Amino acid sequence: MKYIYIKTWGCQMNEYDSSMIASLLENNNEYLITENVEKADILILNTCSIREKAQEKVFHQLGRWRKLKNNNPKIIIAVGGCVATQEGKEIFKRASYVDIIFGTQTLHKLPNMISEVQENKKSTIDISFPKLEKFNYLLKPKKTGSTSFISIMEGCNKYCSFCVVPYTRGDEISRPCDDILFEISNLAENGVREINLLGQNVNAYQGRTFNNKICYFSELIRLVAEIEGIDRIRFTTSNPLEFTDDIIEVYRDTPKLVSFLHLPVQSGSNKILNLMKRSYTTEDYESIINKLISVRPNIQISSDFIVGFPGESETDFQETITFIKKINFDMSFSFIYSNRPGTPASKMKDNVDLKEKKKRLYFLQHLINMQTMMWSRKMFNSTQSVLVEGISNKNIMELYGRTENNRIVTFTGKYNMIGKFIKLKIKKIHTHSLKGELI
Ligand code: SAH
Ligand code: F3S
Repeated sequence: MKYIYIKTWGCQMNEYDSSMIASLLENNNEYLITENVEKADILILNTCSIREKAQEKVFHQLGRWRKLKNNNPKIIIAVGGCVATQEGKEIFKRASYVDIIFGTQTLHKLPNMISEVQENKKSTIDISFPKLEKFNYLLKPKKTGSTSFISIMEGCNKYCSFCVVPYTRGDEISRPCDDILFEISNLAENGVREINLLGQNVNAYQGRTFNNKICYFSELIRLVAEIEGIDRIRFTTSNPLEFTDDIIEVYRDTPKLVSFLHLPVQSGSNKILNLMKRSYTTEDYESIINKLISVRPNIQISSDFIVGFPGESETDFQETITFIKKINFDMSFSFIYSNRPGTPASKMKDNVDLKEKKKRLYFLQHLINMQTMMWSRKMFNSTQSVLVEGISNKNIMELYGRTENNRIVTFTGKYNMIGKFIKLKIKKIHTHSLKGELI
């Protein structure tokens, strides 16, 4: 038996890919996943390059693993994901002890690549982009929780000026609609009650149906909602571009689709949005939100923000702050702009100093935290439908689950509630979680 240790950095897509790697390797009875790096025969690093110092972080990690390999030269080290796709062979140059380099679209080749290294005693690389091939190797999950991600499309054609994703994940490509529905039906049979449709730009989904027609994102949601056992539908991440009226209509017609939407706006200044090549204005964004509110008055919106983009003046930043208040965002992931080699923005003059960027980020996050708290307070004493996910990390006497609006609630309950929807009354409000009581 050989032990595999996988380290994953980055987005949910990377987490999804790593779970695919784990199930592929475990399907071969020679391999077992371990949480203990000291015990491992094969070390896999699934990397991320979305922000600062990604490359340096990879080589630091590899340096640590090199020491393990010095003690046991039979250890195999594999590097995959976005940094591997971007750097390719360069990784061998800086870290000659690496055995395998695989890309975001070639992870299914890993079992063969490992055998190849074992037999030939020499390194191997494959960072090609064979379209959708990896999904042909998807296996039925051995164990599932109450909620599950499912990748519906990958890649991005939008080329926002700051972003590396189009270069590391390739062009937008959608999985066939029936494959997705089949996989979700399987998950539902295994007890999954909530599905999170995953992709770099989910609403750009255009999958083929069995009779070679195109199925758009709105139609896919309607079809998923018909699957017995699936009672809650989420998706990540959508883009204000292509957020068309047919999607608004799905919100109107499909109660299983949650009243919580993560729709990244990035900035509240049209000047900056233009420099970012986001191809929409704040007015366009607001119009989408207003349409959503007209069919779902209680919908909560979260967003991503970048502060300190090249050219962002204090006035531009204040426009973002005003916009955050206007939309009343519930939550955000917010970041300081990070110069990514090879992107158009990397050639722009980065004229905001780091101290100022940090100040802006702090201000923005403070405001959003207050808004998060305001949204949470509205939930006090309300009855919420909570999908119970498991035992709380902090207190084994408690269970935890999620509300429709993505709040974690802890409560005292029975183990047989795990995997089910239950009704809770919200009794305590903390910044990042709530406490509930069974009704
Ligand atoms: N497809 C999504 C974004 C995916 S990347 C969208 O359309 O918005 C996830 C988030 O990382 C982005 O929303 C952005 O806020 C952040 N991000 C991407 N590149 C970045 C960079 N160079 N510097 C700082 N943050 C960045
Ligand atoms: Fe990146 Fe813009 Fe696509 S943020 S993932 S290039 S939509």
